[in-house]
Amino acid sequence: MSEFKSGFVAMLGRTNVGKSTLVNLLVGEKIAATANKVQTTRTAIRGIVNRENSQIIFIDTPGIHKPKTKLNETMIETSFGVIKDIDLKGKRVFVRCDFNVPMDENQNITDNRRIVGALPTIKYLLDNECKVILCSHLGRPKGQVKKEFSLAPVAKELSKQLGQEVLMAEDVVGESAQKLAENLQPGQVMLLENVRFHKEETDNDPEFAKKLASFGDIFVNDAFGTAHRAHASTEGVAHYLPAVSGFLIEKELKFLGEALENPERPFVAILGGKKVSDKIGVIDSLLEKVDTLMIGGGMAYTFFKSMGYNVGNSICELDKLDLAKSLMEKAKAKGVKLMLPVDTKVGKEFKEDTESKTVKYTEIPDGWEGFDIGAETIKMYQDELSKAKTVIWNGPLGLFEFDQFAIGTNAIAEYLGNLENVTTVIGGGDSAAAIEKLGIGDKFTHISTGGGASLEFLEGKKLPGVECLLDK
Ligand code: 3PG
Repeated sequence: MSEFKSGFVAMLGRTNVGKSTLVNLLVGEKIAATANKVQTTRTAIRGIVNRENSQIIFIDTPGIHKPKTKLNETMIETSFGVIKDIDLKGKRVFVRCDFNVPMDENQNITDNRRIVGALPTIKYLLDNECKVILCSHLGRPKGQVKKEFSLAPVAKELSKQLGQEVLMAEDVVGESAQKLAENLQPGQVMLLENVRFHKEETDNDPEFAKKLASFGDIFVNDAFGTAHRAHASTEGVAHYLPAVSGFLIEKELKFLGEALENPERPFVAILGGKKVSDKIGVIDSLLEKVDTLMIGGGMAYTFFKSMGYNVGNSICELDKLDLAKSLMEKAKAKGVKLMLPVDTKVGKEFKEDTESKTVKYTEIPDGWEGFDIGAETIKMYQDELSKAKTVIWNGPLGLFEFDQFAIGTNAIAEYLGNLENVTTVIGGGDSAAAIEKLGIGDKFTHISTGGGASLEFLEGKKLPGVECLLDK
């Protein structure tokens, strides 16, 4: 190896043994620090490879298969199989999607992003003349068959999006589903009923997983939004079938992973949401990576209280004051600029048209509740964002469901959307919903389809729905 300059990357032993893919990465000294932090995703490694492409050797050594290789400092076991890696032609493919989409009281889908996000994988399978068996959950019916949790509206929307009929089963593993699957022709798609109509799904029951697996020759997991759950259809099935990721999971991990591990700096994270306790893990993890961390939403008031200020009726976790203090200390020790709102819009009551006013963060009056960041904070955050090269945002900055308290979230969203040459990655859930509500989703580099899943990914946790694709 001595002929290679410092900074080389060597990929050794990329092996495809039957259904298995394993890539070991041997990292040259210059970028070892970066690479050692990389998540075990092929896409993240591609990111490094692309950047360092003048210094790469790639030695393909088919036949060497060492799953669960013990890792040492210079070796990263990676890669899950991806859909493009395997021969799917004409096969029965069992696909887990996350079609847990919001619906109104008349079962009309109000945000179809998760359905649209699944289209590339489904279309690819259809182009390969596969028989496509789709599976998803919707809501939390807790093992009961409940009409309001039926996936039938999803089948309708998907048929529209695909331009072909999606056959809807009346059950999950029962007679209707079996019959449809038996008669399914290459190039046809069917959707099983809500997999959470069976309690065995969330229990990750092996027998149930086996039944689901019997629908396919191959398992494609494309449910990024549910990848943090070890359920029968997200993880269990992978024990019985060759398992690869679909394009959506691949894309999510690429954008989230690269932003986290190889951000162009300055790297700014914006974190909102109600409670500090929901975000401890992510704040802690991001303090290791970002240059600036901006706080907004309900959790700001716990920080104010920990500094000794009155927060009126604002949401505040009194048992997390020490935690808030320690996070501020950690930020200081790490040299991370932790920014808190300097003013806040407070309201009299929790209702749309309540009386409101903007006050300094040190002067929240008794009887008032903080619902948004104020104009001075918006300006201060925008000034900081104007210097950023990478931004990750998770959680709204105020009570965006009420127009008069959506001003902060909307102003930051619009400003971010208009920044040029900046990578902007939005965690799913409420922040994504706020951006979709503004109709400016296409102005961002990536909007995740995962709420809880993207949060857990940002925390650095392993996602069972991705981990089960390793070494398959
Ligand atoms: C989500 O909406 O975050 C996913 O679909 C997961 O749903 P769950 O929290 O009910 O598991």
